Amino acid sequence: MSEWFATIAETRRRLGEMRHAGRAIGFVPTMGALHAGHGALIERARRETDCVVVSIFVNPTQFDRPEDYEAYRIDLARDREFCEERGTNVIFAPSVEEMYPGRAATTVEVAGLSDGLCGKFRPGHFRGVATVVAKLFHIVEPNRAYFGEKDAQQLAVIRKMVADLNFPIAIEAAPTVREADGLALSSRNRRLSAEERVAAPALYRALCAAAARVREGARDAAEIRQAALDVLVREPRFRVEYVEVVDAAEMTQVDRVAGPVRVAAAAWIGATRLIDNIYAEAGP
Ligand code: PAJ
Repeated sequence: MSEWFATIAETRRRLGEMRHAGRAIGFVPTMGALHAGHGALIERARRETDCVVVSIFVNPTQFDRPEDYEAYRIDLARDREFCEERGTNVIFAPSVEEMYPGRAATTVEVAGLSDGLCGKFRPGHFRGVATVVAKLFHIVEPNRAYFGEKDAQQLAVIRKMVADLNFPIAIEAAPTVREADGLALSSRNRRLSAEERVAAPALYRALCAAAARVREGARDAAEIRQAALDVLVREPRFRVEYVEVVDAAEMTQVDRVAGPVRVAAAAWIGATRLIDNIYAEAGP
């Protein structure tokens, strides 16, 4: 059985006991609507730590569009079962009032890294993410915290925040879990119509085409981007927001490939915004 807490005080007290008993705490922050991508993070935390904590909190401050927040539906009973089946020890599922009582004056801004890619199109998004993750880290005080490469820019922002603000937490990254046709698992996939769902894997195919160009020796970012765009134009349902070639560690844009990169993309299909990215390095 997983223990379930809705308050910060109870969570702190219970995790204090765990820590006192010498158990290493592994933390998986989520916004619920759990799927196999989250499951992989939970299972990894289980293998590497003694007490797995999952937070389920749809964080209002990271939504740049109110309609996206409104549409973000989660089923706590189902998510609880999902966590229990995977051996989660503690679930922390606070209310918005519990996390943000009154008006906060303090935020965490990871400058630079938060400005490109998704940050350019979602103003304030990474400030909301960094701030809530900092709060969750202070509440849970984990030894290790697990994040998905699916959100590679988010991962880079969290790594930078942890380094800059001296959080004593190891940040672990896990590969993107995909459907058989390549579509990255995402809670937003449920919003796709049947036709949109059929079209959606073109995003991953586009990134694969770009990564293939890198392996074949292409160095010019414009040429690599174009390989992805050539695939996406064939799928008229997609409206491309960005396709960028970035340094794999820094997640900053590059004009020429000189080491490991990620090709990252965001595209709209109907009313749904999908993001994905792929790692690539030059072949031997
Ligand atoms: P959420 O979108 O619920 O994702 C929680 C974690 O699951 C993130 O680390 C994300 O990268 C990872 N994840 C999502 N889809 C994945 C997939 N297909 N494969 C592998 N990992 C995947 O990201 C957030 O919530 C929030 O921004 C949060 C960090 C909880 C702060 O509110």
